[in-house]
Amino acid sequence: MASCTNWAAHKLVHAWLLAALLVTLLTLSPSLSAPACGVLATVEHPVEAGRPLRLLVVGDWGRKGRYNQSRVAQQMGKVAEAMNNIDFVVSTGDNFLDDGLASVDDRAFHESFVDVYTAESLRKQWYLVLGNHDYRGDVLAQIDPALRSIDSRFFCMRSFVVKAGTVDFFFVDTTPFQLKYWTDPGEDHYDWREVAPREAYIEHLLETRRYNYLDTLGIRLNSGSATELTWKVAVGHHTMRSVSAHGDTQELLQLLLPVLKDNGVDLYINGHDHCLEHISSRDSPIQYLTSGAGSKAWRGIFQPNEDKLEFFYDGQGFMSLEVDAGLAHAVFYDIDGQALHNRSLSKSNRQHVDQAPSLVSQE
Ligand SMILES: *[C@@H]1O[C@H](CO)[C@@H](O)[C@H](O)[C@H]1NC(C)=O
Ligand SMILES: *[C@@H]1O[C@H](CO)[C@@H](O)[C@H](O)[C@H]1NC(C)=O
Repeated sequence: MASCTNWAAHKLVHAWLLAALLVTLLTLSPSLSAPACGVLATVEHPVEAGRPLRLLVVGDWGRKGRYNQSRVAQQMGKVAEAMNNIDFVVSTGDNFLDDGLASVDDRAFHESFVDVYTAESLRKQWYLVLGNHDYRGDVLAQIDPALRSIDSRFFCMRSFVVKAGTVDFFFVDTTPFQLKYWTDPGEDHYDWREVAPREAYIEHLLETRRYNYLDTLGIRLNSGSATELTWKVAVGHHTMRSVSAHGDTQELLQLLLPVLKDNGVDLYINGHDHCLEHISSRDSPIQYLTSGAGSKAWRGIFQPNEDKLEFFYDGQGFMSLEVDAGLAHAVFYDIDGQALHNRSLSKSNRQHVDQAPSLVSQE
């Protein structure tokens, strides 16, 4: 394969990817396939046939229960139960605030995760990306599989792929993209071990992603099924489009968005701004969904951008997502579990549809 040859010549094989992969192979419960040349670690998440994929998304949460983290967690438990068994939970990063984990023995892992998300309905796999605050601690601790022996739900890597039935998730490590953390960290210390230098890291990541999709395409074309029916969801910590305090992330618009567009990504899901948002792109079918309201929320900041704002809430809450072959349905909830906004997106024409499918209550 041409891509493999190019890759080998590239000489950008990062030790972190291989190391993370080896330890993952030994400890992961969902099956993880060994990547071919230059392809990201890929988890096959088993799904029940004939049933939509159901998940919750929460971000920016780890504050030892404070700032309403515990109340959001309780409502997540209730909503997950009402959804009649979710498949997994996605975290959009800033898992441990303000300074990540100090080590794998940091009590914050218990106080902010194990002891907070205790509902039976949340005893599912959690797939987590890192946020900028996670980089301010011992970042290697947070991606250390040792955490899985404390709580088997916790699956955090830098960048990886989860294949769940008709949905491909691309979890992308966005913190290294943002230039100011490198050039102007101020008082903050970022743990760039196994990442620096920035340019090589980003190049590696984006090239890898291209190859993954080439492979996916190859497999699907060979087996004769329609690639278009696979939903593609990218998950990162940083905003692509946002009307709240951080606003858009220019580095992601320049470097990551073109790759997402080229690969027909349907949804970009992020945290970072402490709010709930739905923005639709005016020049592509991509929908930007922010779920970064897992604890402390920022109120009263609004800065419009030129894409179409569908929904914005600057209080605490979380999001659910239900996806089957034809439709994706996102619902945003507040701290009382009240559905604030919901939207269905159809895969066939990748447009909004008016009719919402049954979700939370009718199981
Ligand atoms: C917790 O949520 C309640 C209800 O929305 C709100 O009034 C209160 O300000 C929140 N507390 C914090 C610390 O954000
Ligand atoms: C979705 O929103 C519509 C109004 O826009 C509402 O009628 C419907 O009940 C909501 N559905 C869910 C599942 O929240």
